[in-house]
Amino acid sequence: MVGIVGTGCYLPKKILSNFDLEKTIETTDQWIFERTGIRERRISSHDFYASDMGAHAAKKALQDSKINPSEVDLLIVATMSADMLCPSTACIIQEKIGASKAFAFDLNAACSGFLFALEVAKKFLESDQYQTALVIGVEKLSSMVDWKDRGTCILFGDGAGAAVLKKNHADHQILGAVLGSDGRGADLLKVPAGGSMMPATHETIDQRLHFIKMDGREVYKNAIDLMYRMADETLLKCGLKREDVDLFIPHQANKRIIDAVAKKLSLPSEKIYINVDRYGNTSAASIIIALDDARKEGRMQSGDCLLIVVFGAGFTWGGMVIRW
Ligand code: UT7
Repeated sequence: MVGIVGTGCYLPKKILSNFDLEKTIETTDQWIFERTGIRERRISSHDFYASDMGAHAAKKALQDSKINPSEVDLLIVATMSADMLCPSTACIIQEKIGASKAFAFDLNAACSGFLFALEVAKKFLESDQYQTALVIGVEKLSSMVDWKDRGTCILFGDGAGAAVLKKNHADHQILGAVLGSDGRGADLLKVPAGGSMMPATHETIDQRLHFIKMDGREVYKNAIDLMYRMADETLLKCGLKREDVDLFIPHQANKRIIDAVAKKLSLPSEKIYINVDRYGNTSAASIIIALDDARKEGRMQSGDCLLIVVFGAGFTWGGMVIRW
């Protein structure tokens, strides 16, 4: 068995409200709030990197779990806004926090990244070799959104969260997960340039191809469908029913998506955790920030059944049940 022994998160202090956005693009607080449930998001300063946010969150999670960085065997960073393409942000964070024994790597499954990374870490810990894992979800999406594209720039925010996992830990135990992907959705949400397919040129910059491009409506429909299916499939895998869920923690992309999924699952509003209003969509950081916030707000009690569902670019998706 593998359990979560500590969590922590880091949110930049700078708040960008919908009213701030009204001054730079053709939009309104009313439109953004009605269509997404978002009021504001956090923005990191230009010289405070994804690795800095991730390192801060990691230190908090390690303190919370009373574990020394030198005890960490494995460090996974889920992100789609790595400091740079190479080396991994995981190696940069490893150095910043002094997790010298760990092997470290990045995992990119976009908004599903943290859940994928938790499951990968769990599998490593279930082997005989490793005891302790540090899983970080971090995004600096403010550097990847097109601040002239009102269809996307209103959605995303910066932030980081981290969890420490230990084997043979019965509390906050990961009971099971279901993960999936479908590359047929790849074109619907992407950053076209900057990789080996389309390296940076004057043209790619002029055409704004280094920013996030999204077909919002298609992504929206798929997100509702897949998150709903993941909820039921994951519960089934864990031998649980919808009524067993004490707290539903969905990926925080859009409140309308969350409401639609919860309605299809017949989950009452008091069992749903939402913080998208405060942070927007922080992609790979969204689930761990939500988990950490929910915990600090006293939303879960010992023994509670937490159901997490995610959906992101790729497409990627997943569900996980944690017995808190
Ligand atoms: O984690 C996974 C990643 N992403 C997501 O989950 C996001 C999924 N998609 C969405 O959340 C929604 O599709 C959006 C919030 C992005 C858009 O909402 P929508 O209800 O699908 O709006 P739309 O794109 O269909 O646009 C409706 C109208 C358009 O005007 P016309 O063509 O009807 O005249 C847009 O130009 O709203 C306009 N619009 C805006 N108006 C004011 C688009 N963005 C804005 C804006 N302010 N920021």
